Amino acid sequence: MDKYAVIGNPIEHSMSPEIHRAFAQQTGEPVEYGRILGNIDDFAGDVRRFLGEGGLGLNVTVPFKEQAWRLADELSPGAHTAGAVNTLIRLENNQLRGDNTDGIGLVRDLTVNQGFRLQGKRILMLGAGGAVRGVIRPLLEQHPKRIIIANRTASKAYSLANGVSNYGQVAGCGLDELAGMEFDLIINGTAAGLAGEVPSIPDSVLSKGGWCYDMLYSNQATAFQQWGYEHKAARSLDGLGMLVEQAAESFRLWRGILPETSPVIAMLRE
Ligand code: ATR
Repeated sequence: MDKYAVIGNPIEHSMSPEIHRAFAQQTGEPVEYGRILGNIDDFAGDVRRFLGEGGLGLNVTVPFKEQAWRLADELSPGAHTAGAVNTLIRLENNQLRGDNTDGIGLVRDLTVNQGFRLQGKRILMLGAGGAVRGVIRPLLEQHPKRIIIANRTASKAYSLANGVSNYGQVAGCGLDELAGMEFDLIINGTAAGLAGEVPSIPDSVLSKGGWCYDMLYSNQATAFQQWGYEHKAARSLDGLGMLVEQAAESFRLWRGILPETSPVIAMLRE
């Protein structure tokens, strides 16, 4: 069996092992996928040990994505811009390539699974942390009309927008500068939902027929999904589809086969 794993801290609630086992079963690939509780002070050591045991690739999750970016010997263009790596691939020369599949995961869930056309749309991205940095370039590459990145700490939104401005129409602002603006899609990339909170935004930012998407996932509706229902969003979605899609893209990078995601999403919804 070929060895892969997800590394993070905490890690016990990660659904990645279940997802990748389903992919392995579906494709017949000889993949074994475990979970590693990463040592906060020795991420590089944990990675080295895993490779020493014959490991071929890792998914990297909170809080190690930036460290994985620094550790990788080479980076995909997407990972380079994101400043974060969620997929490490062991190359034939034993060097490590870092990639980031979060953005493609979000784009595929929105466009393929949900049928939302990003081209020409006005998008509000809430948050300017690592989660948002990982997805902003792939979103811009879909040619939305514009993306406004709004963050509680405005300065972080400005600098993130500046860093990706050559990929499309994008600007940063504070949450308190949104009055009078309107969007076809609002994506929540903040960590507010972990505390059951919603970033404070004006009621009027969601256009009639607009969609809400929370990058977080929980087995009940997330706080931001709830905000979407209350504000009459045409659809209000959580991030489960994104989670499965980013995993599928990692699997493709490792194995050269893109698994079917819909049966796995359906299985996890049960
Ligand atoms: P992650 O890697 O999950 O993105 P992060 O880099 O710590 O984590 O970023 C967390 C994001 O959630 C930030 O954009 C943060 O806003 P600040 O930059 O102002 O801290 C945002 N956030 C967290 N709690 C929030 C809340 N209650 N309301 C609004 N934004 C919040």
